Amino acid sequence: MNNSIDNLLHETRRFEPSAEFRATAVASADLYARASEDRPAFWGEQSAELLHWHKPFTKTLDWSRAPFATWFEDGELNVAYNCLDRHVEAGNGDRIALNWEGEPGDSRTFTYAELTAEVKRAANVLIGLGIGEGDRVAIYLPMIPEAVISMLAVARIGAVHSVVFGGFSADSLRARIDDAQARLVITADGGWRRGKVSALKPAVDAALAIGATLNEHGEPGPTTSSVESVLVVRRGENEVDWFPERDLWWHDEMAAAGEHHEAQPFPAESPLFILYTSGTTGKPKGILHTSGGYLTQAAFTHKNVFDLKPETDVYWSTADVGWITGHTYVVYGPLANGATQVIYEGTPDAPHPGRWWEIIQKYRVSILYAAPTAIRTFMKLGRQIPDAYDLSSLRLLGSVGEPINPEAWIWYRDVIGAGTTPIVDTWWQTETGAMMISALPGVTTLKPGSAQVPLPGLKIEVLDDAGTPVGKNAGGLLVVSEPWPAMLRGIWGDPDRYVETYWSTFPGKYFAGDGARLDRDGDIWLLGRVDDVMNVSGHRLSTAEIESSLVSHPRVAEAAVVGAADETTGQAVVAFVIVRVEQAGDLRQEADALAAELRTHVAGQIGAIARPKQVFIVAELPKTRSGKIMRRLLRDLAEGREIGDTTTLADTQVMSIISTNIKA
Ligand code: WTA
Repeated sequence: MNNSIDNLLHETRRFEPSAEFRATAVASADLYARASEDRPAFWGEQSAELLHWHKPFTKTLDWSRAPFATWFEDGELNVAYNCLDRHVEAGNGDRIALNWEGEPGDSRTFTYAELTAEVKRAANVLIGLGIGEGDRVAIYLPMIPEAVISMLAVARIGAVHSVVFGGFSADSLRARIDDAQARLVITADGGWRRGKVSALKPAVDAALAIGATLNEHGEPGPTTSSVESVLVVRRGENEVDWFPERDLWWHDEMAAAGEHHEAQPFPAESPLFILYTSGTTGKPKGILHTSGGYLTQAAFTHKNVFDLKPETDVYWSTADVGWITGHTYVVYGPLANGATQVIYEGTPDAPHPGRWWEIIQKYRVSILYAAPTAIRTFMKLGRQIPDAYDLSSLRLLGSVGEPINPEAWIWYRDVIGAGTTPIVDTWWQTETGAMMISALPGVTTLKPGSAQVPLPGLKIEVLDDAGTPVGKNAGGLLVVSEPWPAMLRGIWGDPDRYVETYWSTFPGKYFAGDGARLDRDGDIWLLGRVDDVMNVSGHRLSTAEIESSLVSHPRVAEAAVVGAADETTGQAVVAFVIVRVEQAGDLRQEADALAAELRTHVAGQIGAIARPKQVFIVAELPKTRSGKIMRRLLRDLAEGREIGDTTTLADTQVMSIISTNIKA
């Protein structure tokens, strides 16, 4: 294993913070020192400074019932008050909270005062529907302001939201509704995606019809689900079926609702949301997050990792609210910090491939948070697209979701960041609630491709299989060794699965499921999920490492690598590669030659052991809607099996396109 990762670790480019950036940086090096003296006390200080507590806490961490933690247990706060009212009370009511951009080019703007007013009304709507403290509300909406308003209204009254990504099917929605026993669903008629309205309400109707009996008119009778009402936002203006005993228009209810609502305090450990994430088994896990600790780490990381200056910055996270990034870094972190942000409804390529850059130019975005998969897609399209826009407002770039290979990192900095912006590569998970590993801009010397160091107040280690911390220049499994404020509090309704999934590999330590390596300086390099780690002839190889090598070849835009069962070597490396458009040439003739060249390239960079047995030049890669490559499906293809479950793919056609490519 030691030699096999060296390719990544030979990355020698380093970027020191500029004197100018350092001079005004929000974060400072002494955060690390203060935090390591006493972690829980450090978080207590941060929490008191960053949040408004109606009733101050006197306790920080209680770990006596590990792995079930409480943070700030005797304190009381209101999460929505922290994100809204207090900014208005502090005199910042006129500051823009949300600049919303619809896909067709329509837009809406909300100041903090306006957003607060909307959320108060929405809270009254929920109360009118009988929703109260602890009740679960499913939110199934496009990226429209009502998504943010709904989440905050649910939080404001002490209820619990379960946001289900709008791309999920009726069956997935129903499974999540049932698991959480949601009483209300908030949805929309439809939203804009890729130039047309994509209907949402029919999926809710179908989800709730599952198991329902028909009445004498042949209409679905009372649902067998836990849902009593469906609140429908009008966005797509598409025709929808209507069930008057259950369905209500959002605009009618909002118009009828009162405007006054005083936020009540709730205990710090009140559940805030459930967010479902896929596990190794089929059943999704309802990851449970609570209020005070979660909001503390969300606000702390958003402020320090993004160097946030709320008076002047315009922040844009491109994530959908259906994912954890949309919870922590679209809703809770930025709004708790009083930031001005952009949210965008549609896809990056609608109606033209420069859409993101046009939005940055329009709103003068200064901080951009995006996923490597998007960056690599833009790389593939070529720099002439972003070059046509004025991106000079950008001063910091972030990355999340998967390892960002050094080539994409450099492209991101050079082409999007004018060769000057710091890049923060942030490692975290749905389960961790907030960022865990990242550089601090203005403090850390940046290393392309490495997420680098645990954030202040966190203890993270890389362990070998026996649970012993590996030294520098060695790899193993990434764990979080001490409880942290935004940690998941469990899996909804399944405490045993929580203990078993996360705390049984190394007792007392949270096992994240990722492989990682420490370099010579002790910086952390993420190597992908451990199930994406291959074993070739007894050598562990990381998919991330070989992908990085492939993408460093000038003709390659994107690559996915899987380990396919092989008689002699255990597993063999099989690569799927997308070629850059500007270099495509006549692919059919050249594919064999290029495949051979890439095999040699990887062997040259990493060693013969990593030489892909096969390289397929393909037009697409199978990705989930959050942009993760589904290697499982590629493995099926590489091993000549029938392709497994493709329902979570963003584009379900993609597998047949790839199979045709491969056979051609
Ligand atoms: C991966 C997304 C490398 C990792 C916030 C993790 C990353 C999983 C990074 C969680 C990063 C996330 N570098 N890998 N900067 N960020 N990952 O729950 O494998 O959707 O376990 O949370 O994404 O995905 P999730």
